Amino acid sequence: HGTTKINRHGRLEIGGVDTAELAERFGTPLYVVDEALVRERCRQFMDAFRASGVPFEVSYASKAFCVKAIVRVVEEEGLSLDVVSDGELYTALEAGFPAKKIHFHGNNKTPEEIAMGLDAGIGCFVVDNFTEIALLNAMAGERGIRAKALLRITPGVEAHTHEFISTGQEDSKFGFNLAGGAAFEAVKATVAAPHLELLGVHSHIGSQIFEVEGFRLAAEKMADFAVEAKSKLGVSFPVVNLGGGFGIRYVEGDRPLPVAEYVKAITDAVKERFGAHGLPLPSIWVEPGRSIVGDAGTTLYTVGSVKDIPGVRKYVAVNGGMTDNPRPALYDAVYEAVLANRANDAPEETVSIAGKCCESGDMLIWDLDLPKVNAGDTLAVFCTGAYNYSMASNYNRLRRPAVAFVKDGVAELVVRRETYEDLVANDVVPERLRKLPA
Ligand code: LLP
Repeated sequence: HGTTKINRHGRLEIGGVDTAELAERFGTPLYVVDEALVRERCRQFMDAFRASGVPFEVSYASKAFCVKAIVRVVEEEGLSLDVVSDGELYTALEAGFPAKKIHFHGNNKTPEEIAMGLDAGIGCFVVDNFTEIALLNAMAGERGIRAKALLRITPGVEAHTHEFISTGQEDSKFGFNLAGGAAFEAVKATVAAPHLELLGVHSHIGSQIFEVEGFRLAAEKMADFAVEAKSKLGVSFPVVNLGGGFGIRYVEGDRPLPVAEYVKAITDAVKERFGAHGLPLPSIWVEPGRSIVGDAGTTLYTVGSVKDIPGVRKYVAVNGGMTDNPRPALYDAVYEAVLANRANDAPEETVSIAGKCCESGDMLIWDLDLPKVNAGDTLAVFCTGAYNYSMASNYNRLRRPAVAFVKDGVAELVVRRETYEDLVANDVVPERLRKLPA
């Protein structure tokens, strides 16, 4: 996929760069990002929206992978940016991302985070709850400004990979529930708040979704809600944001639709539902994270210890694991992988890929068919661009890996590997515990 292929040396190559060269130059574990593929995914969203002829905004959900270089790429591709914390906002601003195109999410934005967003002049806050309505209004008031607000609505639609459920009542920490009238009260409160400008409504129904029905249903609920707001309060929603969640192919058997089909389903549903009620067409926003960066990422590891339990299982351990990819441990997520240095060799054995952390749950892949594996081989795990680096940890005091972008035969470092000094940089030893010089 993307620019990933096997070269004439029988080695995996990404962005025109041999993975052996990448491992040699940057060390392993290494996250490799196929920049051309990220750009292609951005363009698929932008082109599909342009083709639909509706006003729109595509906002990259930076939680999937938030470093300065990726922020630069999505800005160049014309996307907006979602942030959910002061740290993501800081990264975006440091990368020079235009504040007006930044949207601030989160169910518990601190006063410090709100101040940071207001003072930077970000485009809007996706307001999650009544506490936040009051806080944002007060803090915007102190600054003599009006903050733009989208209200996060919990529509009672839960999308799963293959099915969607309309629950009516939803038990979630996020947003204003439609059922029970909280969402309606939130519109009233926002309109009544002198320092808030109601931009519209937002919903996010889940992640790694393949089917379009859930998005359609959410669009329908938003339109019904827009009718209620218009008829009872005379309020309209210039923006309807249907969130992210577009699925990607991690393994054979995952069947995401082409990006354009999700976009078409969403724009059609909003056009149709708002049209049917005689409402003006709102600007349609989406927030893809995983589908922008997920399949553009590949992690390279070096194989170390091998443990064979005859008749039971062969464990092949790599020099990373749940610290750089916690998704298998957290969600039972599945991945595909190949031996990058012998990519043409036929499979000879079934092995399970273990991480190096001190716990049994640190397994990356169960039952993977590989050529005969030896210590020193390079394992390439695919589809690690989303929620890997961004959820990485220093468990066992492992250093977070480096990240390299590859494109047109050129590899560039975009995050340097953590150093031992980085690991202890924030440690403070109280005077009384210090070791006296000998
Ligand atoms: N918008 C909102 C409000 C969200 O909460 C999320 C993801 C997105 C957009 C982007 O969703 P995406 O297009 O990436 O599916 N750590 C988990 C995924 C958590 C997703 C949280 N919200 C994982 O590794 O699968």
